[in-house]
Order: sequence, then C-alpha cells, then structure tokens
Amino acid sequence: MIIGSISENVNFEKRVALTPEISKKYKSLGFEICINKNYSNHLGFFDEDYSKEGVKILENEKEVISKSNIIVQMNIPDKNMLNFLKKDQTLVGVLNPYSNEAILKNLTEKNINCFSLELLPRITRAQTMDILSSQANLSGYKAVVDSFSHFQKAIPMMMTAAGTISAAKVLVVGAGVAGLQAIATAKRMGAIVYATDVRIASKEQVESLGGKFLTVDESENMETQGGYAKETSDDFNKKQEKLLNDTLKKIDVVICTALIPGKKAPIIIKKEMIEEMQSGSVIYDLAAIQGGNTELTKVDEVIEIKGVKILGEKNILNKLPVSASNLYAKNMFNFISNLYNKEEKKIEVNLEDEIINKTLIK
Ligand code: NAI
Repeated sequence: MIIGSISENVNFEKRVALTPEISKKYKSLGFEICINKNYSNHLGFFDEDYSKEGVKILENEKEVISKSNIIVQMNIPDKNMLNFLKKDQTLVGVLNPYSNEAILKNLTEKNINCFSLELLPRITRAQTMDILSSQANLSGYKAVVDSFSHFQKAIPMMMTAAGTISAAKVLVVGAGVAGLQAIATAKRMGAIVYATDVRIASKEQVESLGGKFLTVDESENMETQGGYAKETSDDFNKKQEKLLNDTLKKIDVVICTALIPGKKAPIIIKKEMIEEMQSGSVIYDLAAIQGGNTELTKVDEVIEIKGVKILGEKNILNKLPVSASNLYAKNMFNFISNLYNKEEKKIEVNLEDEIINKTLIK
C-alpha cells in the first residue's frame, strides 16, 4: 500500500497532512510513502527530513497521485489534480462536503473512496482522530495571544511600590473546545475571565478552569444529543443581549467562538453593543468565516469602531502551521490506522464502524 500527499496551495493553506515524524509511523505500519518535491519547505520540513524516514520524493504532484493508493491532504486538491484520481483510490482530508458537493459526487461516482474528517463523530473512540478538537484548541489559544498583542494595556494585575495595574477582563462567548482553551490561555496570562454558552454542561467546565460563567436568565439547556448547540429563540436572544450589553461595558477583550453546526454563526454582539464598549477593547471573532458573531466582523480585516478593534481571519491556524500540522498529521494517522486492515494489508471500508460510516462521502 502506498500513501501519498501533495503540496497544499500555500497562498491559502500553510498546514500539511504528512510530517516527517508521522511518516515514520506509517512506515512501521508497513506503508510505502511518497510526496512531491519541496512538499513542505515553507514549514522547515525539507525533502531530506522526509527521505530520512524512508519517504520517496517524486518529481511532481501528478506522479504522487498516480502512484498512491491513499492520498492524505488538509484540503481538497485542485480540480486538475483530482482528474488524476482513479477507481479504488482513497482520498482523506477536510473535504468540505457541503461546499464541494458536486466535485465529491463526481469522485464517488468514479468509485473513489472519499473521507472527510470534519464529519467524525464526537465519540470517545474517535478522540485521537478528532481534527475539529485539535485545530479548535490551537485556534482558541492563538485568538487570545493575537488579541492581547493588539490590546494596549498589560494583562495581569501588577502591584509594585512603583504603581498598580489592574488585571484585564476577558469574555469568551461560546465555551466549546476553542472557547475552553481561550479561557485557559487568558487565565494563565493573568486575566479575569468570564464566559457564556447556551449549553449548561459547559458551566462546570468553565468554572473548573477558573472562569466565571454568565448564565442567561431563565434559559433552558440548548444542547443537542450530539453535544452541539441548538439555534436560539428570539426570546433567548433578547435575554442574552441584555446580559452581554451590561457585561461588555466592563470587558477589555472578547473572544467569540459560538457556532451551530451546518448553520451561519449566530450574531451575538450587535453594532450598538460594540459602540458602548470601552475604547481600546479588542474583539477576536473566531466565527468570522461562518459569518461572524459580531455584526461588524469582516474576514481578514481589522475593523475599528470608536476605538474598539474587531479581528477575524479566514484561517488563524496559518499562524501556527507547524503545531497545527503536527496534530493534524497525527489525527490523520490514527484515522488511517483504523481504516487499514494490517493482516490483509488493505483498506477496509467497514460501514458498521461508526467512524468510517460517518466520514465516508456517499
Ligand atoms: P462548536 O464549535 O460547534 O461551537 C462552539 C461553542 O459555541 C459551543 O460550546 C456552543 O454551545 C456555543 N454556542 C453556539 N451558539 C451559541 C450562542 N448563541 N451563544 C453562546 N454560545 C453558543 O462546538 P465544539 O467546540 O466543536 O464542541 C461541541 C461539543 O462537542 C461540546 O459539547 C464538546 O464538549 C463536545 N466534544 C466532544 C468530544 C468527544 O467526546 N470526543 C471531543 C470534542 C468536543
């Protein structure tokens, strides 16, 4: 079995699906591995680092696709490259099935197995493959670091004979994976941290990290069976707006992470609420690419209104691509190990396995 990976479009994506460290693990499972020349130079993973682990360096991407049984990627490759895929090959990545429906239909009709890792079920057995968690965790961390670098005051309380500075106040909206990491990071740096979520289960998690949970008055728990958030009612939105309106006036940094799977991100922070915040405050909107949690967020722009900055990027993970690739490549390896029948040395698409069934594009 040959496993291959081709360069991503580095203008948009700095992460890669195969690192030298993980190549060693594929080797020990019995795979042959190939990549194209200069696959990951931009991350400081050079061709010789891969060849030391037994990876073959091929002249170009087309050769990699033609020779591999399994192609592991971060994003779906370009159409030109997809044209080289043939029957019985397997493509694994974050394939974005809702936006790429027609492309993926075409591939499945050609009997190419396509697995999209953002569809992984959030079950215990899938935790080591959970790319949503590994990447969201890093996003939460980086959103805090970046917003603090835009904030023009110190974060921790400092008390010396020469003077005292009070601690910055941070609000995290949405306490899922990214939000919990944002809370932990902001706490470690000395901020006073508040958080809110529509899932009551997150209250205990926020408090265990030293955050103060803000509960929307008389709200019911809006958690689906799968652990995700439900869409909120107009009545809830009004109550949440009132709670946040009062809170935001005292807050220095806001980290927004609220998402509802398959839907546009909820708008939680309105223009008027931002206008009433203290000048110098910073909002980092991690939901920017799904439409944003504030009314004013613009992807890849820093918006400034009455001295309040609003940041939101298409892909914050491009700012920590080495850490993100290390985790992603490990998640991918664990997914492939589960798909691979070691005795028969072949891919086994066992639809009884929830992990395989849910990620396979049908
Ligand atoms: P997500 O990225 O879909 O959403 C982020 C957060 O925003 C969620 O906590 C959600 O409740 C919150 N949110 C949505 N609408 C909101 C609103 N209007 N106001 C305030 N907050 C709002 O969620 P993520 O981070 O992917 O986590 C989803 C769930 O999956 C969580 O329950 C988490 O504990 C669970 N999980 C389970 C794993 C496992 O058992 N293998 C692994 C990772 C996560």
